[in-house]
Amino acid sequence: MPYITEENLTDIAVDRWSNIPDPRLRKVMTAMVKHVHAFVREIEPTPDEWYTAIDFLTRTGQLCTGKRQEFILMSDVLGVSMLVDALNHRLDTGATPTTVEGPFHVPNAPEIADGGNMAKGAPGIPCFVSGKVRDLDGRPVAGALLDLWQTDGEGLYEVQRDVMDAKRDVNEAWMRGIYHTQADGSYMIRTVAPIGYTIPMDGTIGELMKRTKISHMRPAHIHFCIEAAGYHRVVTHLFQRGDQYIETDVVYGVKEPLITDFKKMPPGKAPTGEMLKEPFYLVHYDFVLQKQAKAQAA
Ligand code: BEZ
Ligand code: FE
Repeated sequence: MPYITEENLTDIAVDRWSNIPDPRLRKVMTAMVKHVHAFVREIEPTPDEWYTAIDFLTRTGQLCTGKRQEFILMSDVLGVSMLVDALNHRLDTGATPTTVEGPFHVPNAPEIADGGNMAKGAPGIPCFVSGKVRDLDGRPVAGALLDLWQTDGEGLYEVQRDVMDAKRDVNEAWMRGIYHTQADGSYMIRTVAPIGYTIPMDGTIGELMKRTKISHMRPAHIHFCIEAAGYHRVVTHLFQRGDQYIETDVVYGVKEPLITDFKKMPPGKAPTGEMLKEPFYLVHYDFVLQKQAKAQAA
């Protein structure tokens, strides 16, 4: 082996990391060495800068707990989470596209009957979301499961509402629920309208964002995970058309087919038949699922 020079170091390191029996790990590690070396060659960090980078990553790791994942947030704001999502969900045009899941999904949400309210007592403007789940040929998908989660009208998810919060009964789920489509593929959800919110800014990612002019806001959205036997599982959001952050979503989650109208209605009869004394929103959205055999993973 030749001794090391600035010029030959990358090739020698790649060659050494080629010595891995598992072909996938070999591909990952040789690509990693190549790209990290290219990055370092491009920026030519001083020793102080390199230490600052290592300290940043160390502090990012130290912030991670069972309830907080600062590395996922890093992946989100760099657009990497959405890239991984796109590479793994290449669905046909016409199928409802996927988007990033984010950190706020809580499993085992309560089952709620069609038309039932998942925003019991939560602050916000009442909002009725309805439509159908269909397949790519337009046929209704009966019995599809819709698992929803979102912020309340003050921009907070369940995990962000303190257990001592007087607005919240800790024994009840907050702003999440599981619905099922009817025989004709229809669904009806009563909730409150979400609002745009900031990603957590009190950690290392916030520290970095504050040194940029990049928006740290997400536009108002409702998260959906839709599952039906034989169909590709879809983790997605519905976004409110006209939201001020729709074009600058900090995690690059917005796809055009997921933007929908939130139609403001005066007080009166809601689609569930109840009379409301306050204005409310109507959202109509049809989801389109793709058969599993057709969905091509990367
Ligand atoms: C969310 O939509 O809940 C989310 C996604 C990525 C980062 C932070 C929040
Ligand atoms: Fe969200």
